[in-house]
Amino acid sequence: MKPYINNYEDVFALLDDQASGVFWDGFYQERKRPVPFLTQNTMPDENLAALLKRESSIQTAVELGCGEGRNAVYMAKQGISTTAYDLSSEAIKNAEAFMAHEGVKVNFICQDVIKTPVSGQYDLVYDSGMLHHLAPHRRLTYLELLKKLLKPRGYFGLLCFAWGENCADEIDDWAYYRQKFNAGLAFQKERLYELFSPHFNVLEIRKYQNDIPGTIQGLDFMWACLFQAKN
Ligand SMILES: C[S@@+](CC[C@H](N)C(=O)[O-])C[C@H]1O[C@@H](n2cnc3c(N)ncnc32)[C@H](O)[C@@H]1O
Repeated sequence: MKPYINNYEDVFALLDDQASGVFWDGFYQERKRPVPFLTQNTMPDENLAALLKRESSIQTAVELGCGEGRNAVYMAKQGISTTAYDLSSEAIKNAEAFMAHEGVKVNFICQDVIKTPVSGQYDLVYDSGMLHHLAPHRRLTYLELLKKLLKPRGYFGLLCFAWGENCADEIDDWAYYRQKFNAGLAFQKERLYELFSPHFNVLEIRKYQNDIPGTIQGLDFMWACLFQAKN
């Protein structure tokens, strides 16, 4: 870390230093936690499958925090030109193996999408479980990134931890920086409106649905959200 604060990026770097979260390469190597996105890592999200079924205008997509590629590969299988980012080289290695097995093409990129610039314009930006692992100050960077990546009227799909489900930290942003370790933040529905409605039209915020054939199960503690760029 630099010794002095000279610009806003230095403030962000200082706050990054106050936050500590999951070490993702270790997480994917050790596979100690039997979470659905590891145990069912070939199945897409039901909300994504439903969106692509009803919205044929989506031709290009980018996924942020794609993990082992289950949603990105699904999008490619639907004929969508797909780019997918994850900061974990272990996750990207497994995603590339899955892609090869399924015989489709996804442009997988190992990169931190918050700290290194991402370019392009897409009909759909998708995030299944990355936002809730970002430190609160980095949500500002995240919002700017979404606005940059979305084409006019483009869609932004999001899955994130829901407050009240006992699945994640139910704390405010100030408490976040007082914790030693952050496993993930839960969001109230009103908070999601507060965060996203100034920037996007809110099309849907509802709980993830189990029992949809061909989709990942056991994520009903998450919000499934759909937003649309205003112009
Ligand atoms: C809960 S996992 C979800 C993985 C995947 N979306 C899925 O549902 O199968 C969150 C993922 O976000 C990635 N991630 C977290 N912060 C990131 C960042 N700043 N840039 C890129 N990827 C990030 C992690 O490496 C991890 O793979």
